[in-house]
Amino acid sequence: MKTINNYNFNKKNVLLLVDFNVPVKNNIILDNIRIVKVIPTINKILNDKPNKIIVITHLGRPNGKKIKKLSLEIVSIELSKLLKKNVFFYKKDIMKFNDNELKKIKNKIILLENIRFYKEEKNKDIKLAIKLKKISDIFVNDAFAASHRDVCSNMIIPTLFKYKCIGYLMDKEIKDMEKIFNKPKKPILAIIGGGKVSTKIGLIKYITKYIDYLILGGCISYTFLKYQGYNIGNSCVDDKYVNTIPEIIKHCKKNNVKLFLPDDFIVCKKKKIKKVNYFNIPNNYSGVDIGEKSIKKFSKIILKSRTIFFNGPFGLIEVKKFSYGTLKIIKYIGMSSKKYKSYSVIGGGESLLTLKKYKHKNRISVISTGGGAMLYILKGKKFPFIKKKVII
Ligand code: 3PG
Ligand code: MG
Repeated sequence: MKTINNYNFNKKNVLLLVDFNVPVKNNIILDNIRIVKVIPTINKILNDKPNKIIVITHLGRPNGKKIKKLSLEIVSIELSKLLKKNVFFYKKDIMKFNDNELKKIKNKIILLENIRFYKEEKNKDIKLAIKLKKISDIFVNDAFAASHRDVCSNMIIPTLFKYKCIGYLMDKEIKDMEKIFNKPKKPILAIIGGGKVSTKIGLIKYITKYIDYLILGGCISYTFLKYQGYNIGNSCVDDKYVNTIPEIIKHCKKNNVKLFLPDDFIVCKKKKIKKVNYFNIPNNYSGVDIGEKSIKKFSKIILKSRTIFFNGPFGLIEVKKFSYGTLKIIKYIGMSSKKYKSYSVIGGGESLLTLKKYKHKNRISVISTGGGAMLYILKGKKFPFIKKKVII
């Protein structure tokens, strides 16, 4: 694949696809890492003195509807701050964007309104692609975190361009992930937590082929306990997937993967908080974090491993005190990387929110902007735009 180093963008109109799908609460961006990591790509293009950079991205899942709270306006403000340059936010209908409109805008960088406001994005409708092709000369894809999606911006827009390439972030993230498959240092440990059990089951079955240790937390660990017949109170559990637990156990046995689950939990009922063992979760209480015994057990495995990837938190991290266990796991991953040079990869929105509180982020080998995209690669899949050779 060509990268932006293969091109000079001088006087060109550049269409840049990025993933600025950042977590937002009360109109505040909670974590801007996805924007920060694209800045080098934008700066390289700016150094070449282009005519315009037209940036496309999405926020949330508006599904073809214009939803005010999913407007990219706050993202354009953040981008301006980070670039120390005024970004023009084009909030009008993209389908009406044309050369005349473009000429009227004096700024070098234009951010278009949420591409998912247009049903054409999901429907892979060529009309949207043609519209954007008309105003630009070169296409750059730096949207690693959205690469697993089969949508117009990923799959159709680039097919109309003779000149196209990937940005620095995409290039680096793909290479970073490939290192997990390409002569990884053993033993390999996967730490999987978080909420969505459905998206994790396929992943777990696949990775047992190449990992040595598996630590499970979050909803999937409660689903495990439920399958084993323990009372889990009101802890999160995906009932549809309780029956898939024997398959996970079977895959681990077959591939000689050592599986570790939490031994203790912090549980909570309204304002009441307790520490309990896994077999002792009371009725009406929900598990909100792992306890010290579990942290100690997991720390030993983390310090023994030489390739580690982590996706999905182990507790209700939006409440500060319940992010303790997840932050401890991150600290041990950092320690393993510092002391034993383990190759560590952390990704997924919630894991990154916890990582923000960790002082020694530089100890982590790779902080991936991808959540779903990271899991997609770990499942051994190639992104649709690579498989179909949309950008070569
Ligand atoms: C993500 O955050 O996972 C990417 O931005 C893709 O968004 P999606 O999961 O809503 O398709
Ligand atoms: Mg996602």
